[in-house]
Amino acid sequence: MSKRVAILTSGGDAPGMNACIRAVAIACKGAGHELVGYKHGYNGLLEQEFISLSLDSTHNLIQQGGTVLHSARCKAFASIEGANCAATNLRKARIDTLIVIGGDGSFRGASHLSQFWDGQIIGIPGTIDNDIYGTDATIGYYTAIDTAMSSIDKVRDTADAFERIFLVEVMGRHAGFLALNAALSSASDYVIVPEFFVSEKHDIELIIKQIKAQRAFKGTVSFIIVVAENVWPNGLAGLTEALNQHGIDDVRPVTLGHVQRGGSPVSQDRLLATTLGEYAVGLVGSTHTNIMVGEVNQRPVMVPLEETWSKTKALNEARVSTMKTLMNERYS
Ligand code: F6P
Repeated sequence: MSKRVAILTSGGDAPGMNACIRAVAIACKGAGHELVGYKHGYNGLLEQEFISLSLDSTHNLIQQGGTVLHSARCKAFASIEGANCAATNLRKARIDTLIVIGGDGSFRGASHLSQFWDGQIIGIPGTIDNDIYGTDATIGYYTAIDTAMSSIDKVRDTADAFERIFLVEVMGRHAGFLALNAALSSASDYVIVPEFFVSEKHDIELIIKQIKAQRAFKGTVSFIIVVAENVWPNGLAGLTEALNQHGIDDVRPVTLGHVQRGGSPVSQDRLLATTLGEYAVGLVGSTHTNIMVGEVNQRPVMVPLEETWSKTKALNEARVSTMKTLMNERYS
């Protein structure tokens, strides 16, 4: 039966969100559902800021980074009044199903909304952090790895020219997926991720040992350390200072920052976004609600929304083991 579907993008934007909106629009058209897009994340629900999404408005979208619906982190929505207001507005707009593309904060928001609105809620994971339980990857993650990798390739050119130590901070919020995979794919010499960080004192000793082993083996050469954000006390400045205190000078910090959120999505993100968008629309009108659609071993899955943030997704063991081997045994 034909439904009125709404979609929004929330939290940190991620390359591939547009590809997902496009897939949802096409699938809705095919299934005879009406589709509207709320702008600026949950703010759009509070402000009743929505547009009709036709095939025309989503044409040529698959390759565009960012999100045409814009995004936001909406504090007001977290309150009871906020969620109540959003629920009233959804009823006024006669929405049957709300699709939320975002990360864990956005899914918590969707779950909060479900206490005030009895429509159907479907989440689609979109974040460069990949820190969502229940799906192998999140939309935007692969593009961010590529962006970080190619940036580190460039850092390497100048690091090699001066035989310097570079610290490259990558995003990930409190997870090391992006840092680990950026480090592995760029052949960086060391990676610091929250999952394995013990303490400043403990970790600086490991890093110094590694730098010394490399210098004993090769003389003074460049050394690139990928550092996940929010791990080292006082960030790159703190790590630079700790290295200086151990007699390691000429250290240069580089923060990649929001550049990692931009750019045209790579094929893996387009494929994930398209698959999940189409799969989500297939569930519209069913009894499945408060779920996230994800992909495990290239097959679509449904996961209760609450599990996506209450359970912790572990780093891929094989990748961790490869990185450890390459880090520790290269100079032994
Ligand atoms: O969750 C995506 C993310 O890019 C994180 O990696 C990062 O910590 C955060 O968002 C940055 O948020 P903002 O764009 O609000 O500064």
